[in-house]
Amino acid sequence: MRRQFIAGNWKMNLDRASAVALAKGLVKEAKNVDGVDMAVCPPSVYIDAVGKAIAGSKIGLGAQNMYHEPKGAFTGEISAGMLLDLGCKYVILGHSERRHVMGETDGEINQKVHVALEAGMTPIVCVGELLVERETGKTGEVIRHQFDGSLVGLSAEQMAKTVIAYEPVWAIGTGRVATPQQAEEVHLDLRKIIEDCYNKETARAVRIQYGGSVKPDNAADLLTQPNIDGALVGGASLKVDLFMGIIAGV
Ligand code: PGA
Repeated sequence: MRRQFIAGNWKMNLDRASAVALAKGLVKEAKNVDGVDMAVCPPSVYIDAVGKAIAGSKIGLGAQNMYHEPKGAFTGEISAGMLLDLGCKYVILGHSERRHVMGETDGEINQKVHVALEAGMTPIVCVGELLVERETGKTGEVIRHQFDGSLVGLSAEQMAKTVIAYEPVWAIGTGRVATPQQAEEVHLDLRKIIEDCYNKETARAVRIQYGGSVKPDNAADLLTQPNIDGALVGGASLKVDLFMGIIAGV
């Protein structure tokens, strides 16, 4: 059985003190949670401080991005080794803000996915269509294209360890959540793609999170869909009660 996985993407929010306070608040509440994997992905400059605040707790540490090269003259970039050094277990790769604001390509994301897996981290690889793509009936095609481009070359074992986050771009930070049926349809499609590229066993193993305006009041309906295995949460991950309210929906 796949274990539900709820991860908070703090994006470029908070300051050092509020990030540590949020982490400590979550640690306290997480003590009572069982059977769910949890993680927080702070801004990179606060990963160290947040890692210390959640040390020994049930909450895992993640990063929001990384670079594929191990070291060298890459000003402003952060390597997988550096993230591991800070205790990161997860790294979000190919988030739609990186794809559409920073212009990251499937090819670049794919390089990072390979490096993260080789370093022993779990990549959370984001895919999702734009509103215009959904409205013109292109969702399936876009998801397939992003899957093929971002995840090419993984062994079945590596694929099984990878987390995919389906995040329709029109639902991110907009308050406009996909219906449980809309989300489930894409999650099921993704599982069929994995089965098609690998096998049934691998398709059954991969965890597929939904992301895009997940809140406590819509979490349960999404998380109880058969192919939705957790959530990647932005805005609502910045408040202890909201994030824990989502986890309660598992
Ligand atoms: P949101 O962001 O929950 O604020 O919509 C989700 C995400 O971008 O991962």
